[in-house]
Amino acid sequence: MQNILVTGGAGFIGCNFVRYILEHSADIVVTVYDKLTYAGRLENLDAVKEGFGPRYLFVQGDICDAAKVEETVAARNVDTIVNFAAETHVDRSILDPDAFVKTDVYGTYVLLEAARNFGNLRFHQVSTDEVYGHIEGRRRSVEHDALAPRSPYSASKASADLFVNAYNITYDLPVTISRGANNIGPFQYPEKVVPLFVTNALESMPLPVFGDGMQMRDYQYVADHCAAIYLILLRGRIGELYNVGTGAEMTNLSMVEILLDELDRPRSLIQHVEDRLGHDRRYSLDVTKILALGWEPDYTPEEAIRATARWYRDNRWWWQPIRDGDFRDYYDTVYADRKRLEPQ
Ligand code: NAD
Ligand code: DAU
Repeated sequence: MQNILVTGGAGFIGCNFVRYILEHSADIVVTVYDKLTYAGRLENLDAVKEGFGPRYLFVQGDICDAAKVEETVAARNVDTIVNFAAETHVDRSILDPDAFVKTDVYGTYVLLEAARNFGNLRFHQVSTDEVYGHIEGRRRSVEHDALAPRSPYSASKASADLFVNAYNITYDLPVTISRGANNIGPFQYPEKVVPLFVTNALESMPLPVFGDGMQMRDYQYVADHCAAIYLILLRGRIGELYNVGTGAEMTNLSMVEILLDELDRPRSLIQHVEDRLGHDRRYSLDVTKILALGWEPDYTPEEAIRATARWYRDNRWWWQPIRDGDFRDYYDTVYADRKRLEPQ
């Protein structure tokens, strides 16, 4: 593994991963391949460009464009593809699933074909705990559980996982898949709940909690997730899946209370609003397998939420232009007419 193609590397987790691997190996050369949708931002990679110039190149392109993907793989002599590129926001997938099917399913197929056509390149797919659907009772999802996605986003990610597995079985493509819990940290687009609530709180706007706020998520720090993916590339078994999370989920209301406490803002900012359609109640990962590979998270969910709140408090330069731009239209579409619920 020397010449890595990181698709979706201008997005939230991708840009953190690129920096992580360049910092952790002096031999690696990275090509970021990214379409630069609303979620992909070149400024996320400014520090990488400055710090690792000769070992990093950016190529703007769509993973659905087979010719451009193959041209890039050839030109850069790629030996490993790590696929982060995706449409990623559940609420957008509810509004319009089209781009999710195109990028998350067809785009993954295009990348798999490129890996196959260039002599079976190493391929890692970045997937999500949402493919297991929501988990009842006290159970945790293990890697061999059946897939039961419930949103257009998770259905598209589950479909991609099935293709990746099929390419391993049919063509012997050397693949691995990681299924991560909710990531938080620097450079996450402020549509996702933690950066949305932190930036709303910093602007003294209400925090729109969907439904009763008792849904459960495992909020993990993005650097921990990046470390796990790197470890899987180095030591993971080909053809295997790995869950990645802290293994400790909390309710959304607890998450909100922690971030308000960190920012020293009042709980009166909490506003319960009409729930998300088909809202998954609880995700919960069994992480025994990734722990056995030698990984452990540096951050608890509470530490991750506090560190994330501080990053947004201190880096207004990054998020203010986003919130002042197209994001406003998106926010109005999703939230302006949303019914308010009585205080719970
Ligand atoms: P993000 O939305 O911040 O970034 C996605 C990136 O993909 C952007 O840079 C975007 O420009 C790029 N992209 C989108 N469509 C593309 C296309 N057709 N061609 C090339 N590039 C394209 O997403 P993220 O939160 O960083 O998630 C990255 C990956 O991790 C996704 O596959 C997601 O499903 C998965 N994941 C995310 C989380 C999470 O909590 N954020 C958890 C587990 C797994
Ligand atoms: O679990 C991994 C997944 O986590 C990733 O695969 C997805 O790409 C990522 O978007 C995320 O999905 P979620 O739907 O869990 O994340 P989101 O930040 O959108 O919402 C987290 C929880 O907060 C969820 O229970 C819905 C709730 N929520 C979200 C928003 C945006 C609110 O209560 N209000 C909101 O305004």
